[in-house]
Amino acid sequence: MERHVRLFLNRLSLASVAIATFILLLLFLQTPETCVPPNSPSKPHLRFPKSSCDSSPRELVSVDKKNKRLWSTKDWQKKVSSFVQFFHTIRDLGLLHNHTKVVCISAGAGHEVMALSQIGVLDVTGVELVDSPPLVSRADPHNLPFFDHVFDLAFTPHLAEALFPSQFVSEMERAVRPNGACVIVVEECGDAEVGEIVGLFTKSRFVNSINVTLTGLKMTRILMKRISR
Ligand SMILES: *[C@@H]1O[C@H](CO)[C@@H](O)[C@H](O)[C@H]1NC(C)=O
Ligand SMILES: *[C@@H]1O[C@H](CO)[C@@H](O)[C@H](O)[C@H]1NC(C)=O
Repeated sequence: MERHVRLFLNRLSLASVAIATFILLLLFLQTPETCVPPNSPSKPHLRFPKSSCDSSPRELVSVDKKNKRLWSTKDWQKKVSSFVQFFHTIRDLGLLHNHTKVVCISAGAGHEVMALSQIGVLDVTGVELVDSPPLVSRADPHNLPFFDHVFDLAFTPHLAEALFPSQFVSEMERAVRPNGACVIVVEECGDAEVGEIVGLFTKSRFVNSINVTLTGLKMTRILMKRISR
């Protein structure tokens, strides 16, 4: 009787092993659903979430090609050269050097990141809700994935579009070191609106604001200096 039970149990475990192996094999053979065929995506950077398939060399080549195409367009180059001019004025203020650590928040497709690199800034980080490799990584501006005070200068042209402007600003201030700078560009506005934006900052003092033209748009540049703690 006992032998029968043991035999039965043995068979049962053998059967379980066989079933498990079969399922494993099935899983192994099945292409994961997150894996998108290499030729189909027109905007690979918009796929979410990323799968391990993203790192296939084919995908990289296509991102490279896409970037080459994008970066050679007139529109792209015009915008980048406009940002180059803009950052020259920041450099003339003594706030930007080649070794300045800069973060561009809500950097879109990365025009400003490229512009900063072009003028010789060596350490530029661009973040946006949607990444655009290699210029811009994905991060929520309301919850920046950086330690406190790691940047010398933070720049954003999209504070006005932020969902929670005060949270956006507080993250910006947190990421910048004491005595570092926050440079904000908004649609051209008067003193009242500038005052409202300045009021969002709790750890910085207002330096100045001027009206500028950036990427063909009339904008107001607001300069804040992070106070030492
Ligand atoms: C900064 O980098 C640019 C571009 O590489 C270079 O032309 C310039 O001389 C550098 N400036 C300094 C002060 O090193
Ligand atoms: C910028 O332009 C706005 C209106 O277009 C004006 O009200 C404001 O005074 C200007 N700001 C500066 C600093 O010149």
